[in-house]
Amino acid sequence: MLLRRLLCLLAATIATTLSAQDLPGLKVTFTSAGKTDVRSDRLLALYVPAGQAPSPFLAAGPFIAKWEGDLQSPLRGTFKLSAESSGKFKLSLNGQPLLDGPGIKTGQLNKGANRIVAEIASADKGDTFVRLSWASKDFPLEPIPPTLLTHPADKELDAAMQRREGRLLFAQMNCAACHADAALVPAKGTGMPEHGQIAPLLSELGTKFKAPFLADWIHDPHSIRPHSLMPKIFAGAGAEQKAADLAAMLTQGATPKAGAVDLKLAPQGGELFANLGCIACHQRPDAEGKDAQDRVPMGHIADKWHPAALMEYLQDPAKHYPATRMPHFRLEEEEASQLAAYLLVNSRQVKRKALAGDAARGAALIVSGGCLNCHAGMPATTQPTLATVLKAGDKGCLSADDKARATAPDFALTSAQRASLKAFLATDLASLKQDTPAEFAERQIKNLNCVACHSRDATLSTWTKVDGEAKKLRDALPPKEHVEGEPVHDAPIPPLTWLGEKLRHDWMSKFIAGQIEYKPRPWLIGQMPAFAHYADGLALGLNHQHGLPQKEAAEPAGDAEKIANGEKLIGDAGGFNCITCHAVGDTEATAVFEAPAINFAQSAERLRKGYYHRWVLAPTRIDPDTKMPKYADPEGMTQLTDPYEGKGPAQFEAIREYIRTVK
Ligand code: HEC
Ligand code: HEC
Ligand code: HEC
Ligand code: HEC
Ligand code: HEC
Repeated sequence: MLLRRLLCLLAATIATTLSAQDLPGLKVTFTSAGKTDVRSDRLLALYVPAGQAPSPFLAAGPFIAKWEGDLQSPLRGTFKLSAESSGKFKLSLNGQPLLDGPGIKTGQLNKGANRIVAEIASADKGDTFVRLSWASKDFPLEPIPPTLLTHPADKELDAAMQRREGRLLFAQMNCAACHADAALVPAKGTGMPEHGQIAPLLSELGTKFKAPFLADWIHDPHSIRPHSLMPKIFAGAGAEQKAADLAAMLTQGATPKAGAVDLKLAPQGGELFANLGCIACHQRPDAEGKDAQDRVPMGHIADKWHPAALMEYLQDPAKHYPATRMPHFRLEEEEASQLAAYLLVNSRQVKRKALAGDAARGAALIVSGGCLNCHAGMPATTQPTLATVLKAGDKGCLSADDKARATAPDFALTSAQRASLKAFLATDLASLKQDTPAEFAERQIKNLNCVACHSRDATLSTWTKVDGEAKKLRDALPPKEHVEGEPVHDAPIPPLTWLGEKLRHDWMSKFIAGQIEYKPRPWLIGQMPAFAHYADGLALGLNHQHGLPQKEAAEPAGDAEKIANGEKLIGDAGGFNCITCHAVGDTEATAVFEAPAINFAQSAERLRKGYYHRWVLAPTRIDPDTKMPKYADPEGMTQLTDPYEGKGPAQFEAIREYIRTVK
């Protein structure tokens, strides 16, 4: 299965023979009130609700969006191109006008690059949207896949992406927590969601962490977690003593959380570490050296955590830190103790200096060091104001070396990050006061590392890449006989590529938040962990990326005749026998060993209508490996001549009507 996937991807890459300068996605230029901004988008699709700006760098108001790039066609031939849009959409193909307004037109595509230029003017009233699809004699209408859209390298685009990177760093590193200016930054809880997020609550630390480790963390967080958002605050002589004083203050008078972890469970924990996908985001605790996948290190866990507190953390990582990047797995207590045992047994103990600290000195440092500006949202008082910082250039926190930095915090910025921050600081900062859902989703997919577990476009998941490591952890346990019906570790996880087109906002947002009680794919050992803090915005942004609104149009109650036809069509008597693989409410699938599939009762609340039809008409266009049979030919005709004269779309719509009635 895995090998086939790899080969498919490889074939797709070779078929399109991209030139070295081609980058994924199309360049989009937005123009509004005489100002422009650019970015690259994966798809030719856009959704901008009335009254909102198409980009955080432009004010809301009438705008024009223009897409430029290449459609990399795998074949030469005749294709149909179709635009659904709010109006005023134009597209030219290889220099020739093709579409003018919504509709469908036939055009010729060359093998390889075909130049696309398209434009939409925002709607006078209501939301602005567009979705571009194509079809050929071999496949029905589908959005043009992101893997086939490219643009050449572009300086203007690089500069715009750099500003965006700087904007995110400014927000996440909480620059305005110390360098404040009420006129320049948004009020709490408004504007860019990442701005002003509170760092972990510094409470009960002594019940959780060991003081010598805590001192080392405060002294130099990046030496422990390279991508930590927390800066090194103290430099020079006495820095280690200050950190020890703070550690003493933060752990003063606390007793470690009581309770032991049964360390004999470590091998079971190792298997979970592989099967739940921890291994996709984290290095193994016994790993040494630099990690090719750049995962979060775990070697220090035994040095840091009191065992019972670690178990508690694993069961609710967001408890003291809602914005954490560590997701919530809804672990059973037994699983948490197995995982804790695995991490504790395999960590590498380091000799720590353990200077004696003075809690009273620590209490003064926690204020003067600016700790509480990030950790408790305390207003900035003594630091240079933001207006000063904007004029300062390469100084203070933006200095390249320790000497020039002097007393300013060290965020371990790379030179690219410093350049991004400077590019952002050169703007008017107004972009902090608003946001664009599609961009929020794109940022958080990277920040939260969704591609650890999900493949996306041409990117394989990290989990797939570290399969060999995961196998070793499974092999540490004696082999188990597979029992029919029990979940397996090697079943495919849905790629992220089409999820924004596939799922309804309300379901997706609840699912990402961990609020859906059932598991759509009970045959997987792994599960989707929850990212509650980010769920709603992620789901909305994903829908917008595909040119879709938050809510689908309300549908009237189904037509009785269609519903009856639909029920017949999924069955084995004169139907397609979908029920061999699909359970329907409480009725189990009749031959589930064929290929397990999702219960139709769940599909009804999950799926968007457009995606449902696209999938059922041509499932392998979406997933080349799927075991779901194709029932319709490229004209949409099926083997069943009755009802609807064998017309697949009408038959599948009847099935959908029926599915909507299943509880
Ligand atoms: C914990 C508080 C804190 C945070 C957060 C912080 N800074 Fe600073 N910053 C300082 C201190 C302290 C100085 C040094 C002030 C001095 O030299 O008197 C400084 C100095 C600077 C200076 C030089 C100002 C001058 O006039 O010399 C710049 C530029 C700067 N910071 C940028 C940033 C940026 C960009 C961020 C976010 C990535 C940031 N700072 C986050 C505390 C902070
Ligand atoms: C610029 C904001 C910022 C400043 C200033 C800052 N921190 Fe942090 N701190 C964070 C963030 C964000 C985290 C979360 C961990 C991460 O991003 O790796 C964190 C994590 C921590 C943790 C680990 C908490 C846990 O529950 O895992 C401790 C302890 C801590 N900080 C103490 C301090 C102390 C003490 C100071 C002052 C010397 C300080 N921090 C200054 C942002 C900050
Ligand atoms: C999607 C990526 C992701 C996955 C999957 C993931 N983690 Fe994490 N985890 C993180 C990040 C990032 C942090 C750093 C903390 C933060 O940003 O708040 C973290 C922090 C932790 C910590 C605290 C580390 C410390 O230094 O104290 C532990 C323990 C942990 N994870 C265990 C696990 C286990 C066990 C699993 C599997 C059940 C898992 N993680 C799955 C991303 C992930
Ligand atoms: C630790 C691995 C892991 C990480 C990290 C992860 N996912 Fe998932 N995700 C899964 C698994 C496994 C499923 C399938 C669950 C099922 O059907 O029971 C899934 C399913 C989903 C689904 C539902 C798809 C469908 O067709 O049912 C969505 C939406 C989703 N993930 C979005 C995300 C987003 C967004 C992120 C990043 C914020 C993310 N996932 C990160 C493992 C992960
Ligand atoms: C041989 C087994 C099999 C048969 C028969 C089958 N399917 Fe499927 N179906 C699948 C598989 C496998 C999936 C993908 C599951 C996944 O996303 O992991 C699927 C997915 C679906 C989905 C998407 C469900 C969701 O909620 O994500 C729909 C809708 C669907 N099938 C409809 C049908 C219809 C209608 C029929 C009969 C005309 C049918 N299937 C027959 C195996 C089958």
